[in-house]
Amino acid sequence: MKQSYALYDTWLQRGYTLSESMKTVLSQAVLLSEDQQLEFCMKEYIRGVRRMFGAEVQQVPKEQAGVLLGTLEQAAKCLPQDGKTPGAEGFRIYENGGHIAVVGADRSGLLYGIYRLLMLLAQGKLPENADICETPAVQVRALNHWDNMSGQIERGYAGESIFFKDEDFCFEEQRVVDYARMLASVGINTLTINNVNVHQTETFLISERFLPKLARIADLFRPFGIRLLVSINFASPMRIGGLATSDPLDEGVQHWWERQTELIYRWIPDLCGFLVKADSEHEPGPYQYGRNHADGANMLARALKPYGGIVMWRCFVYDCAQDWRNQKIDRPRAAYDNFVPLDGQFADNVILQVKNGPYDFQVREPVTPLFGAMKQTHLALEVQVTQEYTGQQRDLCSLLPLWQDVLQFDTKRPGTVADMFGSQITAMAGVANIGKSECWTGHPLAQVNLYGFGRLSWNPALTPEEITDEYVKLAFGSDPEVTGKIADILQRSYPAYEDYTSPLGLCWMVNPGYHYGPNVEGYEYTRWGTYLRATCREVGIDRTAAGTGYTTQYAPENDTLFSNTDTCPEKLLLFFHRLPYSYKLHDGRTILQYIYDTRFHGEEEAEAMAAEWDTLKDKIAPSLYEAVAERFGMQLENAREWRDVVNTYFYRHTGIADEKGRKIYK
Ligand code: GCU
Repeated sequence: MKQSYALYDTWLQRGYTLSESMKTVLSQAVLLSEDQQLEFCMKEYIRGVRRMFGAEVQQVPKEQAGVLLGTLEQAAKCLPQDGKTPGAEGFRIYENGGHIAVVGADRSGLLYGIYRLLMLLAQGKLPENADICETPAVQVRALNHWDNMSGQIERGYAGESIFFKDEDFCFEEQRVVDYARMLASVGINTLTINNVNVHQTETFLISERFLPKLARIADLFRPFGIRLLVSINFASPMRIGGLATSDPLDEGVQHWWERQTELIYRWIPDLCGFLVKADSEHEPGPYQYGRNHADGANMLARALKPYGGIVMWRCFVYDCAQDWRNQKIDRPRAAYDNFVPLDGQFADNVILQVKNGPYDFQVREPVTPLFGAMKQTHLALEVQVTQEYTGQQRDLCSLLPLWQDVLQFDTKRPGTVADMFGSQITAMAGVANIGKSECWTGHPLAQVNLYGFGRLSWNPALTPEEITDEYVKLAFGSDPEVTGKIADILQRSYPAYEDYTSPLGLCWMVNPGYHYGPNVEGYEYTRWGTYLRATCREVGIDRTAAGTGYTTQYAPENDTLFSNTDTCPEKLLLFFHRLPYSYKLHDGRTILQYIYDTRFHGEEEAEAMAAEWDTLKDKIAPSLYEAVAERFGMQLENAREWRDVVNTYFYRHTGIADEKGRKIYK
């Protein structure tokens, strides 16, 4: 792998090892029936076999074929049937007497099956007599770019946009196609290329000014089974249409959206729909007109309905100018307070898109209480693949353990978040982490987050260990020392990052606005509703019924679990409780000592990860080694700053020294 490794090729590298006999099987393939729709799948298969394994594929008659490709419908006519069938977009891969059949439930399913076959072979993981039947867990597996048409990406840490520049489209078609393949290879089927904050130029994306170019992008993604979703500005009727209002109950406004939607679908007949950030951080929305979010979302849903389109409506709605003195107002309550009373009022082509936690993609937050609380509404789980608060792709932070905690959280309403996939939760959305950087993600190892996001949206039961193992084998080859060490580094990265940044669920100790580096009170006296309320005696917020009442938004069992300091998960203790620094944790340490210990430990872990990486210097491609080593340098500086600033802050507030006498500034 060392010779052929390319940062750009992510988990679809060239030159994987494969036995000659398997190469022979792969190199003779057939489509089960001549179907123009499926020819693209065959092309992708041929390309994949050539690039990944260096073998040329010949299309041969069925009787001679090693690999048979088709859809269920076709397989029913010519392959033995046993009743095992994948659902929509799913596939089955089975080996039978030296042949491999890849059967998709539909065209997308076939494509996914082909990528999976190639990726399993590349990992050396296709079992003998394989019979793999999979169906994606949710219908909409969406990646949301926060790209602005200026070319800058909001919270982007991997260079400029691959779609826009200077207030216009600007893209290399080949790069877009390579990107589409990357996304499809992990099952992503929906893409938003513009930021949820829809600024002036971007508002016109749904007008004739930009639709031809947007349609071209849609054309490039379509063969890969990926449909576009456009972020729209709720005030478009005024900003584009010249209307005096954008009130969702105004007939003129409703007609405007109907006409505009018709125009959009003329250009992009398979558009997935609209993504909307409304009444959120100064974006316009229905509240401005005294209407509620169901009024707003349903108006758009009606306009989209004739075309089969959907509205993904974000729940990131909170008062971003709250009164610090009022200890009852609590930002984490906001999504529930705004949306749960509307359960049952949303049209069936509306999906409410909810961030995984009640704040904003912090390093450690509880899971939003909306899951399970809105039984009559479609919901989407939104996670942040871009590392806004988790190291900004300078620090290594594999987000898989964070997402696993979210997916495995037992809502008691009933079941885990993952259990709700496919029923109450019909979509998963991730804020994209890619840009023009050579490896796509700034930090080469941050690719694992995009890979993992796709895999989890397909199958939320996959563990971080399984996903990491797949990724390292695909991205870095078959030397077990290399893959083992990189997997180890990836697995340690989130706990390490949490350790030096965010003890016991304390959030927001970051530099305001920028969100990298420590600033304990940086957000304390801003307007954003993000407090620690640290004094010389206590820290944290009481969010129980006696405090802000946030815990009461959970199922009663979880309310009790979180409200009781003995049962509250310790990693979230100071999220839910206000406690003295002398409070003793289960292992007998005080909160203060825990804060000191974890800061030192986090920094040591950052050093250890960097050292482990160094041991790989002669074993991996120099481009990869250098890129990661450089980032570890930055991470170490950051970890040390976090350690020193946070420790010093709490030491100076409490006057209590570290029991182990380590260096803390006096
Ligand atoms: C965060 C982030 C913003 C973003 C917002 C959102 O607050 O810092 O840049 O616009 O989330 O999710 O809409």
